[in-house]
Amino acid sequence: MSISISGLTKQFGQTDVLRGIDLGVEKGELVALLGPSGSGKTTLLKIIAGLEWPDAGRLVVDGADWLQLAAQDRRIGFVFQHYALFPHMSVRDNLAFGLTVRPRSERPGKAVIAAKVEELLHFLQIAHLADRYPTQLSGGQRQRVALGRALAIEPKVLLLDEPFGALDAAIRRDLRRWLRGVHEATGSTTIFVTHDQEEAFELADRVVVMGEGRIEQIGHADAIHDHPATQFVARFMGATVELPVTLQAGRAEGKGLDLTALPRRALPDGAATLFVRPEDIMPVPTTSSPWRIATRTSNGAHLRLILRHEDGKEAEADVPRRAVQAQTLIADTPVQLKIEAGTLFATASTPARRSARPASPTVSSPQKQETSS
Ligand SMILES: Nc1ncnc2c1ncn2[C@@H]1O[C@H](COP(=O)(O)OP(=O)(O)O)[C@@H](O)[C@H]1O
Ligand SMILES: [Mg+2]
Repeated sequence: MSISISGLTKQFGQTDVLRGIDLGVEKGELVALLGPSGSGKTTLLKIIAGLEWPDAGRLVVDGADWLQLAAQDRRIGFVFQHYALFPHMSVRDNLAFGLTVRPRSERPGKAVIAAKVEELLHFLQIAHLADRYPTQLSGGQRQRVALGRALAIEPKVLLLDEPFGALDAAIRRDLRRWLRGVHEATGSTTIFVTHDQEEAFELADRVVVMGEGRIEQIGHADAIHDHPATQFVARFMGATVELPVTLQAGRAEGKGLDLTALPRRALPDGAATLFVRPEDIMPVPTTSSPWRIATRTSNGAHLRLILRHEDGKEAEADVPRRAVQAQTLIADTPVQLKIEAGTLFATASTPARRSARPASPTVSSPQKQETSS
């Protein structure tokens, strides 16, 4: 089933939760919606499922106007982060449930349902759990069963809302690989919501980055990583250091910065902001620079250097601890910052809606980005 969404908007009270969503999903595609908490991901999924209604816009699935259809007529498979399996039913009965409650005219016979459930149990590699009850399952096993329950009805569209969000990182990685395999075997049109970049990029054919009710960028991992379309995406993808620079004939310049590695950009002359990842900053000791190393800590693999500008601004750099330069990078050393990669945005182009955010310091830690999502 192909999904075509256009001009979708939704307000809750005075809050614009979706501000005009345009998105097409091809038949059989697995698309990830990636964005921080509150960006409108769940609301968008609920509208597709028929659990919420938009204020404006269109939702067309295989040519049919789904906004005219009630939830039960859309045949959606939905898995939530905390999917409540029926606690008094065995895994086998949980899987069968969706089929047994079909309208009589569409309901398969008992034997057909049993065969279908048996097939799913094997396909999803949960046959050994068939007679257990949900309390006897681990979190990962429960989510496999939840996905099985969603798949049992042969959904037209599969919607997964942070289905692995409550699980440990290692189990999440296993389930991701498992889900990718399941998707390849079923070919169901799937929308997967997550705030975890790694999960989105590993799973999805295309990633849709959402922020504040808008789609900020759609693309593959490398493009989103190397060429963030907006300042929001740059920050979200870890380019947390923002350096003011001056552009002249497409070249960026700044005191204490070595920007020769950056390609020339077709941007107007004048003030610009360079967004950089801490690992793309290599401090090089020099005799005179407005930047100095303020502190140096190590996590074993990397040195984390806090760099302080003479005007008080701070930036951070991550340097491999075994890099030859590492031993020269000690506190108080004046350094020039060699920038290996980064994205330039003309400062004036900052959309007004961004300035409503708390004033952005030069630096915010990547950890902060992760936990805020
Ligand atoms: N039923 C509701 N009533 C009022 N506000 C809501 C409701 N559901 C969601 N919101 C608000 O809409 C925004 C987006 O929420 P949501 O779609 O859940 O985002 P996400 O899934 O990306 O975290 C949030 O600010 C949230 O508080
Ligand atoms: Mg959500």
